[in-house]
Amino acid sequence: MKALVLAGGRGTRLRPLTHTSAKQLVPVANKPVLYYGLEAIRDAGITHAGIITGDTGAEVRRAVGDGSRFGLEVTYIPQEAPLGLAHCVLIAREFLGEDPFVMYLGDNFLVDGIAGLVESFGRHACDARILLTKVAEPRFYGVAELGQAGEILRLEEKPEHPRSDLAIVGVYTFSPSIHRAVREIRPSARGELEITDAIQWLIDNGYSVRSHLVSGYWRDTGRLRDILECNRIVLERVETRVAGTVDHLTEVSGRVVVEAGAVVENSVLRGPLVIGADTKIVSSYVGPFTSIGSGCALRNAEIEYSIVLDGSSVEGVSRIAHSLIGRNVEVSRATGVSNTHELMVGDHSRIQVST
Ligand code: G1P
Repeated sequence: MKALVLAGGRGTRLRPLTHTSAKQLVPVANKPVLYYGLEAIRDAGITHAGIITGDTGAEVRRAVGDGSRFGLEVTYIPQEAPLGLAHCVLIAREFLGEDPFVMYLGDNFLVDGIAGLVESFGRHACDARILLTKVAEPRFYGVAELGQAGEILRLEEKPEHPRSDLAIVGVYTFSPSIHRAVREIRPSARGELEITDAIQWLIDNGYSVRSHLVSGYWRDTGRLRDILECNRIVLERVETRVAGTVDHLTEVSGRVVVEAGAVVENSVLRGPLVIGADTKIVSSYVGPFTSIGSGCALRNAEIEYSIVLDGSSVEGVSRIAHSLIGRNVEVSRATGVSNTHELMVGDHSRIQVST
């Protein structure tokens, strides 16, 4: 069994971060979301992974390398434009050969991994097995309609009027019959070759397609609130580890990770939280479910339920919450006329001020 990992796409819902960086590399508890997927693939006993890349291919290659640190052998397959998930299968034909494979969308996060799915695909021969989960807003996903016996009747991609609340999770297992399906379908209204349509083609042509309900936690991290939620879930499980220095004036409660070279002075750390290497926190409050990257600086600042990427600083600002702050960002108090906000933000940024 091989793995096909999709790490292209535009990531429009995570702009401005995705103007300069791959959405699959946004960190969750200071680790790129893609790494969790690669670890899940390895833990399912798979050794060969093809990674589809787009405009951010160079960054993905830098982050993953030859895959050896994940115990994987990685082959990169560049996609010239985001032409759809089924198009990814089409261009990976040579890499996949006649092997069955698991297709994993690189921005998906499954807390329980994929070993169960891969094992049940191996046990019950079928042409495709998809994962489904109940969601509150099915119209943002591929949606499955099931029959009386739990068989799949119909799949629809982001329907305006969903027929069920069962979303298709971005992890699929396929036999080589999918190669015929992706050649038969035509682009959708949004101009993409949809994997949903390819699976529907298998169903319509008498192939066996089964589904499996995910009981554990799943999120597509394509949106801000989902990334913050994933960050919360991962931080729920961290164990305290302090490699950096925390002075005696600092009050620590809950589980905290302070990486090597980090310095915390005269502050309040209320876990669960992680503070990256070489970050300096002075006279600040870092609250629950917060991940601060490496090389950051916080001074007279308050932050909780947020993610701050490497090299950023927050000074004299209270209280930041539900926020995602990119790399090398400076957030500080305005020095000019009082009650003014002084901003220099990138294209497609989103700012919500309290007054
Ligand atoms: C894709 C699939 C969709 C699925 C979703 C899960 O959508 O097309 O069927 O429900 O992933 O993450 P995308 O997020 O690429 O628009």
